[in-house]
Amino acid sequence: MTKFCFVIHPLSFEDVVRYEPGAKGKGRPIIAKIMEWMPSWAVAHVTGIRTPDGRETEGWFVGAGLLPQQMLELPRDRVYERILKAIEIGADLGAQVAGLGAFTGVVGDGGVTIAQRSPIPVTTGNSLTIAAGVRSLFRGADEMGVDAQHAVAVVVGATGSIGAACVELIAPRVEHVILVARNETRLRKFHESIRERLPCGSSCTTDIAAAVRRADLVLTATSSTQDVIEPEDLRPGAVVCELSLPHDVSRRVAVERPDVLVVEGGNMRVPGAMRWTRMREPGGTFDMGLPPGTALACMSETMVLALEDRCEPFTLGRGIELEKVREIDALAAQDGFELADMRAFDLPISREAIARTRAAADERRAASA
Ligand SMILES: NC(=O)c1ccc[n+]([C@@H]2O[C@H](COP(=O)([O-])OP(=O)(O)OC[C@H]3O[C@@H](n4cnc5c(N)ncnc54)[C@H](OP(=O)(O)O)[C@@H]3O)[C@@H](O)[C@H]2O)c1
Repeated sequence: MTKFCFVIHPLSFEDVVRYEPGAKGKGRPIIAKIMEWMPSWAVAHVTGIRTPDGRETEGWFVGAGLLPQQMLELPRDRVYERILKAIEIGADLGAQVAGLGAFTGVVGDGGVTIAQRSPIPVTTGNSLTIAAGVRSLFRGADEMGVDAQHAVAVVVGATGSIGAACVELIAPRVEHVILVARNETRLRKFHESIRERLPCGSSCTTDIAAAVRRADLVLTATSSTQDVIEPEDLRPGAVVCELSLPHDVSRRVAVERPDVLVVEGGNMRVPGAMRWTRMREPGGTFDMGLPPGTALACMSETMVLALEDRCEPFTLGRGIELEKVREIDALAAQDGFELADMRAFDLPISREAIARTRAAADERRAASA
């Protein structure tokens, strides 16, 4: 059996307590200071993954315990060292391929340097995240009755590893796509490089609010540690697919915009009867805030590579090839991985909730007509 490890890190102070219940009640500055110096550690043993044709894998979540802001602000080599130490722990436990979770795959050059220094092949998992994210966006559009062919779509983080490929996959299915990022030079250059081959109208801007105000469909994949999508900017009935970790969509949207459908786009249901057992308290279940039996798409990519015995640096850096996205998407489907049920703001989205969202969107459109 080929085994994997996956590097995780807390996305927020609430997450720190989930990882380490002992941190409860401690002040944020103390927690942040401890995180700065805490060595990497084996967090959970992942078992029970089994394909419909009986192939199995198991692996470990290994913690590189830095918060997103620390990943961006601490000296690069110190962050790399922490991530590499986590991979080494996974390799010592028996992992033959490693995945990079959230900011561990964003920091620096998107996994390239880490892969060069790692004892085992590394993937960011971004190819399957792209496939799952685009699928989730259009599932949301169908649920909300959005006519995608005549829709304006916005990709926030369009020059990134995930966002750039999402632009190309979304473009054939909409009327116009708007590319958004902060660095204008890089954004314009990227837009110029792809606009000819995009089969729909396209434009680019650094003004997120202005772009979102035009959008029927929004996909966000930024490396921001702050909210990026605010309730005031969203159109009635808009669909927002959120891939960023930590999230980009302000929690105010959940309260103030009952007419908008937000979906977490990167979650997948894993085949078999997956369990996450805490390493330090054997028998205890590790809680990452995801429904049982589901995993992030980037984790799922790492699991699929192990199931396929493909110990290779499948996805690294920016400029991901669409062929890779299609390949891992097909392998994941063949191995029994599916999009997880819709969810947002840590809660499942029921059929009734969608009906209510559609009704609220109709009302809001009627009120503004
Ligand atoms: N759900 C999953 O399974 C999963 C898997 C992997 C990664 N992720 C998450 O996906 C996100 C993107 O990852 P990536 O590897 O594509 O990152 P990346 O390559 O670093 O790209 C980030 C993009 O976001 C833009 N950006 C950063 N801050 C922004 C802001 N405040 N406003 C607007 N745009 C901003 C960047 O361009 P500028 O700097 O020019 O703005 C760039 O286009 C991360 O949050 C990561 O944790 C999720």
